[in-house]
This record gives sequence, structure tokens and C-alpha cells, in this order.
Amino acid sequence: MAALTQLAHHQRPHNHLFFSSAAAARPRRLPATRIRMSLQESGPSLAVVGVTGAVGQEFLSVLSDRDFPYRSIKMLASRRSAGKHLTFQGRDYLVEEIAPDSFDGVDIALFSAGGSISKEFGPIAVEKGGIVVDNSSAFRMDEGVPLVIPEVNPEAVAGIRAGSGKGALIANPNCSTIICLMAATPLHRHAKVVRMVVSTYQAASGAGAAAMEELVLQTREVLEGKPPTCNIFKQQYAFNLFSHNAPVMSNGYNEEEMKLVKETRKIWNDKDVKVTATCIRVPVMRAHAESVNLQFEKPLDEEKAKEILKKAPGVVVIDDRAANRFPTPLEVSNKDDVAVGRIRRDVSQDGHTGLDIFVCGDQIRKGAALNAVQIAEMLL
Ligand SMILES: NC(=O)c1ccc[n+]([C@@H]2O[C@H](COP(=O)([O-])OP(=O)(O)OC[C@H]3O[C@@H](n4cnc5c(N)ncnc54)[C@H](OP(=O)(O)O)[C@@H]3O)[C@@H](O)[C@H]2O)c1
Repeated sequence: MAALTQLAHHQRPHNHLFFSSAAAARPRRLPATRIRMSLQESGPSLAVVGVTGAVGQEFLSVLSDRDFPYRSIKMLASRRSAGKHLTFQGRDYLVEEIAPDSFDGVDIALFSAGGSISKEFGPIAVEKGGIVVDNSSAFRMDEGVPLVIPEVNPEAVAGIRAGSGKGALIANPNCSTIICLMAATPLHRHAKVVRMVVSTYQAASGAGAAAMEELVLQTREVLEGKPPTCNIFKQQYAFNLFSHNAPVMSNGYNEEEMKLVKETRKIWNDKDVKVTATCIRVPVMRAHAESVNLQFEKPLDEEKAKEILKKAPGVVVIDDRAANRFPTPLEVSNKDDVAVGRIRRDVSQDGHTGLDIFVCGDQIRKGAALNAVQIAEMLL
């Protein structure tokens, strides 16, 4: 992450990693004043899978920020990272390579190491009585696996309890879906969305820590007149934008777009809601933006929509027409709340049944780590 050190603090992924030649296998106690109270005998035992990644590092920050109680925590990643050290809440931890026995005695496992790791180890953790909160798309559409945004459908995890010995899988929705539905759901509850058109402007951080590094590197290379290094994406990213890098399907949509379609239906428990999306990668370091066009069954005017959004948990309204001030990715970077603005009547629709809004959210935080930790809080 060396290249990331020159970024503004709030754009960087949190970095709890440090390297050491010492091979201490046990957490080493640091001065008591630096130890947070969230280490509690009565708390659940945790595992963070993919702890060295962009989301994994954010998990640690969110757990710490929210004083999430735990009695132990395992730091898991691939063989590449095994043996690295990281500091969390004043203690030194060794990163371990994930293995089936990593989940012995684990009550809650927060997964963010990609779909194949979730598919291989998620069921093992569940078999051992743990609850897996998974950030990948591996189980999202599986029947019986709750797909949850705590502010939207908390009822989906009713009856699931950490430490009960009864394992379960819970899926975190796609980051663009979470950010979109944080704003659209309060309006949907009031006037029922019948159709939603989403256009995304997605940041490098959505593709992980290496993509953020590549954007920094490419920016420098292009400014220096050198050819850009294209390892993560196939084409130049700096000073450019392109259709989302997810695979394109036979219907012409890419997988990221179809996640918005399918996940919205599952989360809203509404198989009839019409959703279409166009997902674009833009050379923004951190936090996604989305233009969302909504068509409602019942009338909903601008003022009422603003009033509803101002009261919505996890949402902040930034909508100053006179000053032309609306949400930006920079402004929401490292923030918990999703920002909404450009709230206006869609002039192409009759009466007051259409609205346009513009939404920005930190997708490593609310779009991934924060949402997962909020889910974990509901299991305590
Ligand atoms: N970035 C986002 O905004 C976002 C949002 C929602 C969901 N997600 C999902 O979260 C997951 C991780 O994303 P990310 O952005 O954090 O990626 P990332 O920065 O590339 O991190 C990937 C993490 O997975 C670990 N990993 C990779 N292969 C592994 C293996 N074979 N065994 C064990 N661990 C392995 C890596 O460990 P090493 O360091 O050892 O390689 C690293 O900790 C993905 O499924 C992604 O779709 C990401």
C-alpha cells in the first residue's frame, strides 16, 4: 500500500498491518491504556476472513469504532499473508492462513476474501456452529440465506443468534445495491417503487486494495507521459471511465448490473419491481455515486421525499440548489451515512409519480464492512 500513503487520509483504506520479523504466535499485550473495552469474556469469538484486504481492514476499523464486543478474534487471509503481524485495539496479532480448523469455536465469521473462499469455507464455519456474514456474492441469491441491510429488512435475521451453536449463513448485499436501497427504501415504503433506473459511478476501492494502488500508479504514469500499467483492469483507468469490469452476460447486462436487479427484488421481497442498471467504473479512489430514477405507484412530491429522507436512519440529505451543493464521493469517504441530493421531480413522468435522486456512499464502509458489522450486532 506504499503508493496509497500520499492520498488524503479519508480516501485510504485503513491499515492495521505492519511487518515484523518476530514470529510471535500469540497476541502480545500492549499497554493497558491502549486496549479498548470491546475485548470482553462475554462477547462472541470472531474471525475476520480476508483481513489484509480493503474490506478486511475496514472490518477492523468498524469493529473498533463501534466497540463491538468480542472475547477473541482470528485474523485470517491467504498463505501470502500468513505470518504478517497486525495491530488491533492495542494488541499484536499474527495473520493466519485460512484452514478448516480456523473456525473451531468461532461464533461469528466476517468473510471478505472472494466468492470461492466463501464457498469453500463458509459451509465449514456454519457446520461448526458459527454464523457467517459473507461479503461475496456466493450465497446472496440462495433461498434460505437472508440478504440483509439492517435499516431495510432487519426482520430477515430474526431468530438467528450468535453463540447458540446453530450455524447460519447471512449475505451482505452488493455495495451498489446497499447504497441505492438505503435511499430508495424510505421512499418505497411511502409510495411504492414500481420501476427503478440506476446509473452508477463506481470507485476503484470497489475492486479492492490493488485497484486503488493501480489508480494511483496510473495517474502518476500518465502525468509523467509513461504508458499506464494495466494489471487489475484491462484498460487505462486514470483520466478515463469504462463499463464495469464484471463479466458481461448473454442478455448484455454485466453481473454487477444484474445484482442490482435481483438483489433489490429479494431485499424488498417484491418480485415484480422493475429495475434496470448501467454500472460504470470512474477514476474515483473511494466511495460510489449513483443516479437513481424512481417511478412510484402513488404520488410523492419533492418536499415530502426530502422530509422522508431527512428522517431516514443512515441517510443524510445534501441538497442545496442555490449553492449547487450536492453529495460527492470525497465527502462521504470514510463516513457511515449515505448522502442523497438532487432530489427533484422527474419531468418526463406525469404528475408526482417520478423522482430523480443522486446518492453517494462509502462502499467499503456502508457498502461492505459497516453493513456486515451492523448485521453481526443484530446477532448478539
Ligand atoms: N471492496 C469493496 O468495496 C467490496 C464491497 C462489497 C463486497 N466486496 C467483496 O469483498 C471481498 C474482498 O474484497 P476486497 O475489496 O477487500 O479485496 P482485496 O482488497 O483484494 O482483499 C482480498 C482479501 O482476500 C484474501 N484472500 C484472497 N485469496 C485468498 C485465499 N485463497 N485464501 C484466503 N484469503 C484470501 C486476501 O488475502 P491476501 O492478502 O493474503 O492475499 C485479502 O485479505 C470480495 O468478495 C468482494 O467482492 C468488496
